[in-house]
Amino acid sequence: MNDAKVQIGVNKLGHHVQSSQNRLLIKGGKVVNDDGIQEADVYVEGGVIKQVGTGLLTPGGVRVIDAAGMLIMPGGIDPHTHMQMPFMGTHSADDFYTGTRAALAGGTTMIIDFVACPRGDSLMDWYNKYRAWADEKVCCDYGLHVIVPQWGDKTANEMATLVKEKGINSFKCFMAYRNVFLLEDDEMLNVFQACRKLGAVAQVHAENGKIIERKAEQLVADGIRGPEGHSYSRPEAMEIEATTRALAIADEANCPLYVVHVMSAEAGEAISKARRRGQVCYGEPIAAGLACDNSSYQHTCWRHAAGHVLSPPLRDPSTKERLWRMLATGELTCTGTDHCVFKADQKALGKDDFRRIPNGVNGVEDRMSVLWEKGVETGILDPCQFVAATSTNAAKVFNLYPQKGRIAVGSDADIVTHHQNVDFNIFEGMVCHGIAEFVISGGRLVVDERQLKVTQGAGRFVPMPAFPPYVYNRLEKREAAKSAGTVAVARDAYDGPVIDLKAEQERQKAVAKEQPGAAGGGGGPEAAAENVFHRPPTRGGGRHMQESSFSLSGAQFDDTKPARSGIRTHQPPGGASSGSLW
Ligand code: URP
Ligand code: ZN
Ligand code: ZN
Repeated sequence: MNDAKVQIGVNKLGHHVQSSQNRLLIKGGKVVNDDGIQEADVYVEGGVIKQVGTGLLTPGGVRVIDAAGMLIMPGGIDPHTHMQMPFMGTHSADDFYTGTRAALAGGTTMIIDFVACPRGDSLMDWYNKYRAWADEKVCCDYGLHVIVPQWGDKTANEMATLVKEKGINSFKCFMAYRNVFLLEDDEMLNVFQACRKLGAVAQVHAENGKIIERKAEQLVADGIRGPEGHSYSRPEAMEIEATTRALAIADEANCPLYVVHVMSAEAGEAISKARRRGQVCYGEPIAAGLACDNSSYQHTCWRHAAGHVLSPPLRDPSTKERLWRMLATGELTCTGTDHCVFKADQKALGKDDFRRIPNGVNGVEDRMSVLWEKGVETGILDPCQFVAATSTNAAKVFNLYPQKGRIAVGSDADIVTHHQNVDFNIFEGMVCHGIAEFVISGGRLVVDERQLKVTQGAGRFVPMPAFPPYVYNRLEKREAAKSAGTVAVARDAYDGPVIDLKAEQERQKAVAKEQPGAAGGGGGPEAAAENVFHRPPTRGGGRHMQESSFSLSGAQFDDTKPARSGIRTHQPPGGASSGSLW
């Protein structure tokens, strides 16, 4: 956490101070959007960007920020956080105040959190609970996704109300965490179909939870109880399988799918393949997966190893590189953090059994700097791609664009200026060269020359409308093309006989009764075979082709015929042969 000065509840300011905070001119920097870089000043008033360009005419009482040598970028959007989430018997430790304060310190000006409704509860009740928790605490703007832990009429109705009246446009399904969140395939199909109808984006936590559970049980039985067991119990294949399955189900529902926390490169490749097939789907690697690896689970310090426990777990060291490449090529779309932190005494719930270690790691404060360092400083991403991966793409997928994710006239004044060549340690000693010097959130200067000045409750809930055009325009066309190929074939109706199954059953029962061997009356295999095969043999003495060759006794049609020593093939595939083959 940033230990810079924190200022809470500073709403009652004098008028002149109000206006100079309200009106900001960011001067002398380079504006970076996802599609280009320009030298321009940015004028902000009333929480909105009013002008972008050079030689701007601005009113008096303006606070001028000298951004010479700096990049001016849209504030980060973290589309995946869990603040004060009730989970695994406890609550994640950052609430909507400390969590959004940390976000702002790192240059993230909007988070999208998850309403975590447990199985059996009402989505609407939990949505209201989350709004109440967040509204009074958030220091930056926020939106909400909703987790759907069950399917039924009530869920369908609540999903519709949430979309139509409550600013929700995405729902998440879990394929893990049985009895709390896990959905079966058919339940997931129902949720995806509902999303499609409502114009929402479906999300998925893709891991085969049931197999993982079995594997974890076995590991514990074998005496592996430390955090390394968490990683052993959740092999990459379980993420790849679930990702592939979720993609297939979403395709069936013709629903856009956003796969959260892609930790496996092969799972990422499954998403990439689906995109190449034309499926509307997106993958989200997270800061932890892009910067850390599974060697931490082998650490001899329990706290260190447990501190890295999240699901899906960190993978082998080569994975990061592959995830980065997919982000650079656009095969993966957004970056999140899955920020869900637990303190040492909470992690210690699983000190004797890794299955009870609360899953989750940090990242909301670190993501922008870590991604800059590992992505831009290494030449994998250019600054425009960085902006796309940290804000613009999330804004487009969740229908916030161009209100968010862009520096342009009319957009929200959520801005971060990156100063380069400054050393700063985050993510366990990583040295980063791009940190937030100034952060503007809703037009308020919340990081001022690296001093944090946040206001509890100053953030707003940002409704996310249904049918994001970036997602749905393509999907609707694709659906039309797909259904054009699904037509009934015109043909004459079949007018022949249809078997009467009931009558056939009766007939079989009657035959069985008449047979001496049927009731165990000493018939032997011959009689048993007679009881199973009812149709007369062919003229050549073979089994009638519509007759089953299966019998419970294992008897075959020709058990009673002498075995033949060889068969001459007269017309084998590929042409007749003159000699005997056997
Ligand atoms: O380990 C994790 N990822 N914890 C947060 C809950 C989730 O699965 O997203
Ligand atoms: Zn998850
Ligand atoms: Zn999560």
